[in-house]
Amino acid sequence: MPDGGSAPPRTLGWSLDATAAFFRGHGVDSPRATAEWLAARLLRCARGELAARRDRAMPEPLLAAMGRGARRIAAGEPLQYVIGQWDFRDLTLRTDRRALIPRPETEMLVDLALSSPRLRAMEAPRVVDYGTGSGCIALALARAWPGARIVGLDVSEDALALARENAEALGLAGRVAFINVATTPIDEIFEGGTLDAIVSNPPYIPSAAVDRLDRKVLDHEPRLALDGGPDGMAVLRQICEEASMLLAPEGELYLEVDAESGQAGPLSELLRELGFDPVRAHRDLAGHDRFLSASLSLGV
Ligand SMILES: C[S@@+](CC[C@H](N)C(=O)[O-])C[C@H]1O[C@@H](n2cnc3c(N)ncnc32)[C@H](O)[C@@H]1O
Repeated sequence: MPDGGSAPPRTLGWSLDATAAFFRGHGVDSPRATAEWLAARLLRCARGELAARRDRAMPEPLLAAMGRGARRIAAGEPLQYVIGQWDFRDLTLRTDRRALIPRPETEMLVDLALSSPRLRAMEAPRVVDYGTGSGCIALALARAWPGARIVGLDVSEDALALARENAEALGLAGRVAFINVATTPIDEIFEGGTLDAIVSNPPYIPSAAVDRLDRKVLDHEPRLALDGGPDGMAVLRQICEEASMLLAPEGELYLEVDAESGQAGPLSELLRELGFDPVRAHRDLAGHDRFLSASLSLGV
């Protein structure tokens, strides 16, 4: 790892080049960008501001911190946990091992919910983020919908603690409640037929496929956030069934599902059987059916 040497001046530019080369040598993805994220975090500036600072000297403690962070990343720890924050839509969220790192595709799930004309017309929609993790979905919805009443649910006390910290840091703590659905039964949290929307990115990877995930994910992110049981759909099925009880007539459900194991088809069928109509699949940027949206019918 770059720890100096006598010759070149230890500027930010030198440190970025040396760190990127170190990452390249250790097979780290996107070595230059990763070095920049790390430096931007340490210098408390935006990544785009680094170019203008390339010639500035790096103080010794910052060089040492850069080296420590780089070694953790080269050893396989996700960048987002090392720098302790990551952006999700217009929010910067605290990220650590307590919860899944928010993924860019989940921003599309939030966009889908936010594009609902029916929900947008409501002054104070009641919305649940089921499996909230870092709180990313609940907090992004709260930021976008000032009147919404939002609850984030999880079974992990660690994840809920992180979500509450994020809400506090973003000034949204008064607007979003986070509840442990493992210790409080769902029918004690909500009255049936009263929710306007449920949005969820639950664990959906089949157990056997979890074991084959990249070590960076497997060794650092919580298995509880990934493992959806034998076919990956255990929690998804539970959410669909509960949604049919909890949503108001015409209430809306937005789900992220596993594109690789083809869950959109069987889950669409289940949703129709449960009384949702219409049920629609939506593609991600790679063209895979990754999201489902469904509205609970008015009745038969
Ligand atoms: C894939 S992570 C998603 C986290 C966050 N919503 C995101 O998009 O980054 C799934 C989350 O669901 C939680 N979870 C797992 N099983 C659950 C269950 N039966 N009920 C509620 N939450 C659950 C996990 O603890 C984890 O935080």
